[in-house]
Amino acid sequence: KILILDFGSQVTQLIARRVRDAGVFSEVYPYDVDDAFIRSYGASGIILSGSHNSTLEGDSPRAPQAVFEAGVPVLGICYGMQTMAAQLGGKVENGLVREFGYAEVRARNHTALLNGINDFVTDEGHGMLKVWMSHGDKVLDMPPGFKLMASTDSCPIAGMADEERKFYAVQWHPEVTHTVQGKAMLSRFVHEICGAKADWNMPDYISEAVEKIRAQVGTDEVILGLSGGVDSSVAAALIHRAIGDQLTCVFVDHGLLRLNEGKMVMDMFSKNLGVKVIQVDATEQFMGHLAGVTDPEQKRKIIGREFVEVFQAESGKLVNAKWLAQGTIYPDVIESAGKGKKGQTIKSHHNVGGLPETMKLQLLEPLRELFKDEVRKLGVALGLPHEMVYRHPFPGPGLGVRILGEVKKEYADLLRRADAIFIEELRNTPYEGAAMPGEEAPKNWYDATSQAFAVFLPVKSVGVMGDGRTYDYVVALRAVQTQDFMTAHWAHLPHTLLGKVSNRIINEVRGLNRVVYDISGKPPATIEWE
Ligand code: XMP
Repeated sequence: KILILDFGSQVTQLIARRVRDAGVFSEVYPYDVDDAFIRSYGASGIILSGSHNSTLEGDSPRAPQAVFEAGVPVLGICYGMQTMAAQLGGKVENGLVREFGYAEVRARNHTALLNGINDFVTDEGHGMLKVWMSHGDKVLDMPPGFKLMASTDSCPIAGMADEERKFYAVQWHPEVTHTVQGKAMLSRFVHEICGAKADWNMPDYISEAVEKIRAQVGTDEVILGLSGGVDSSVAAALIHRAIGDQLTCVFVDHGLLRLNEGKMVMDMFSKNLGVKVIQVDATEQFMGHLAGVTDPEQKRKIIGREFVEVFQAESGKLVNAKWLAQGTIYPDVIESAGKGKKGQTIKSHHNVGGLPETMKLQLLEPLRELFKDEVRKLGVALGLPHEMVYRHPFPGPGLGVRILGEVKKEYADLLRRADAIFIEELRNTPYEGAAMPGEEAPKNWYDATSQAFAVFLPVKSVGVMGDGRTYDYVVALRAVQTQDFMTAHWAHLPHTLLGKVSNRIINEVRGLNRVVYDISGKPPATIEWE
C-alpha cells in the first residue's frame, strides 16, 4: 500500500484515487503524523502532496524525517517537491511569476519515472510532457545526490530524482487529468519504482469486507438508516451480503422524496434483495411541523430534528440491536480528520442523525475506506442497478429545500411530477459532447450533468390554455456541471430538450403553467435555491 501525506492541497484526494485506479490501495494521512507511525505503517512507497503553504514561511509544514529514512521510494508533488528539497539540503526560492495551469516540460536524463513517456517530441528530439502546474515557489538548488529530471523555461528544476535512494519529485500535478501522462507517471511510481502489487479490486474487496463484517458483529443485530441515496444503499447491500437477516433497515419517508422513490427503495431492497426494511411514512408529522415555516435554515433544522426523532423511535423498537451501520465514506473520514486544520471548510449539512447514548450502539461503517467512485463500483458489483448507483446527489432535506418558502403537501405533489418529467427527458436525450480527458463519454444528458432538478416557486402567473385563462404556479429547472459541488456551471442543455420538458410539464401537470431555466453559476448562486 501507498501512504500519502497531505499538506493541504485541494487535490490530495485525487492522488489516492489515481493510485487506487492503478490497483494499489492507498490512504491519506495528515503530514504531521509522527516518525513512529511512518515506521510502523508498512508502506511500499510514500507520496508527499501539494499545499497552499510556502516552504519559505517560518513555520511551514515539513514531512516527518522518518519518511526519508524508511528505505522506501518517495514521490514529492509540488509543495512535496519543495519540502523534499528543503529537508534534504537543497534550496527553494520565491518565484517571481506564479505559474498556473498548462505547461510543457522537457523530460531529461532518462529516469525510471519519466523514461519513454512523453506527449510529443520537439524538432531537436526532446521528449515533452503536457502538464498542469500551480506554484509560486520553486527549487533553486537540488539537494546532494539528485539529478535534474525535468525543466521548463520559467522553472529550470521542474523535476528531480535521486535514483539511488528512489526519491523523485515533480513540480507539476500528475494526479489531475490535465497532466496527460499523469496516470502513467503514478502507475510507474507505484508499480515499477515501489514494486507494489496490483491487488486492489472490487471482487476481492467484497469478500474481504464480508469477512470483516462477520468477524466484527458475530451474531449481533445491526440497524441501518436507509435513505435511498448511494452510500446507505451500498452499505445496506454489502452488510446484507455479509449477515443477511441480522440487518434491519429503517427507511423514513418524510414526504419530501422524489416521485415513486419510496416504492423504488422498497422494491429494490425488500422485494429484490430480500433485505428487512421497516418503512415509516412520517409525511404528516413532517408537514405538521413545517406548516407556516418559511426560513430555509429553520426548515432544515426541523427536518433534521424530526428525522432523528422518527429514526430513534423506530430503532428503539429493535431491542436486540447492538450496532448502528452508517454509509460513511472515505472523503468524510479525511474531512473530519482534518477538522480544525488550516484551509479546511466543513459543511453543516446533516445526514442520518445519531442515536441516543443510552442505546449504546457500536458503529459499523463498512465503506469508510472507499471513495465515491469505488462505492459506486461496489454497488454495481453487489447487484444494485447501474441507474440507482449513478444517481445525482439528493439533499437530506429533500424537496423541503426545493419548495421555496412554506412547504405544503400540495406543492410537493406538483413538484414531484415536474421533476420526474425533467429527469426522464434528461435520461432519454443522448449526449453528443466530448468526454473529459481520461473519462468515459456520458451517454445521455442525465449522465452529462452533475445534478439536475426542478424547483417549486410559490408565485402564480397568468397563462392561456384552450379558451381559458390560467393563474398557476411556476417551476424553475436547474441543471449544473461540477467536479466538487463547491463551484458549478449551469448546464448548456439543448433548447429542444428544454422545450420538450417545458411542454410536457405544462401539459401534464395541472397547476403549473410556466417553466423557467436557471442560468446562474455557483458562485454567486448556490446549486439549490435554498
Ligand atoms: P449548494 O446549494 O450549497 O449545494 O450549492 C451543494 C451540494 O450540497 C447539497 N445540499 C445539501 N445536502 N443537506 C444535504 O444533505 C442539505 O441541507 C443540503 N443543502 C445543499 C446540494 O444538493 C448540492 O449537491
